[in-house]
Amino acid sequence: MKTKILVTGGTGYIGSHTVVELQQSGYDVVIIDNLSNSNREVLDGIEKITGIRPEFVEGDCTDIDTLRKLFTDHPGIKGIINFAASKAVGESVQKPLLYYRNNLMTLVNLLDLMPQFGVEGIVFSSSCTVYGEPDVNPIDESAPIKPATSPYGNTKQICEEIITDYIFAGAPIKSIILRYFNPVGAHPSAYIGELPNGVPNNLVPFLTQTAAGIREKLTVFGTDYDTPDGSCIRDFIDVVDLAKAHVVAMKRMLDRNDTDNIEIFNLGTGRGLSVLELIASFERATGVKVPYVIGERRAGDIEKIWAEPTKANTVLGWKAETDIDDTMRNAWRWQCKLPK
Ligand code: WQD
Repeated sequence: MKTKILVTGGTGYIGSHTVVELQQSGYDVVIIDNLSNSNREVLDGIEKITGIRPEFVEGDCTDIDTLRKLFTDHPGIKGIINFAASKAVGESVQKPLLYYRNNLMTLVNLLDLMPQFGVEGIVFSSSCTVYGEPDVNPIDESAPIKPATSPYGNTKQICEEIITDYIFAGAPIKSIILRYFNPVGAHPSAYIGELPNGVPNNLVPFLTQTAAGIREKLTVFGTDYDTPDGSCIRDFIDVVDLAKAHVVAMKRMLDRNDTDNIEIFNLGTGRGLSVLELIASFERATGVKVPYVIGERRAGDIEKIWAEPTKANTVLGWKAETDIDDTMRNAWRWQCKLPK
């Protein structure tokens, strides 16, 4: 019997890539998604890659009755990966309650129902934003949590605390918290990728849309930072590598009883790349020029952050392996398939 996993937000960007990796590793997947930032065609993309159409429930995880019905209709779910969340930093400043409601209620509902339905563990999507501007780089999991600079970031910190408090209180569940750095790219098949709504906020979708002629030019937000070329530095991690980490995390969480009931891992490459270096990588990998201008700094940006991923490398036995040029090539192939 295949182990059954619930993936909330499974038609989203990281969710869909993770569903593919779970299926290819022999897991049975049920997706719940409210399609607020994705669409049903993602299921076709997943099926084209794996040959398996995942079970799909259209619904909102903030509604506990919807989740109760899901667990009743799909008995035997052993683990959850929780991607269902709102994730735009700027929007969260404008609509804080949307973020607190979506992100916190989803997690609370899932945690509440897990023991009743025999679900053993939850893998939670957190973010390197919990570290704020690091005092040192690369940054490991023991670094202090800094005050959040947006409601979005705050939801990630609060969610980590909710899980920790619940397990400390003796709840019969386990959890692995994964702190992502900057996920980019698309599946090499180009059947799934990132589908940003409206004008993208994040660098790579804006860059690929500019290369495709949808946007006139990319603005590099500041080249006066204290970095070698003056632009900000990030740890860009390939979305398929990131997805694979969820599979090994799930296996570890469900298989082992001799570990802590809660573990935290950074998911990054360990390598910092500047915004200008990323543009150069894209141009090198695709042969396509990106028209760009240097602009003002973006409010709230962190100057430089990259991961110390040794804990994930050694404990999970996982390593980000994809070369950034390959990642950029995959992002471009996906962009070229999207309607203009
Ligand atoms: C990267 C760099 C920009 C756009 C945020 C969240 C994080 C995560 C991903 C989840 C920065 C620069 C960007 C542009 C630019 N979460 N940039 N021109 O801010 O590192 O992280 O998104 O969903 O939690 O905080 O990512 O891609 O927005 O920016 O120069 O048009 O690219 O200034 O230095 P960020 P990003």
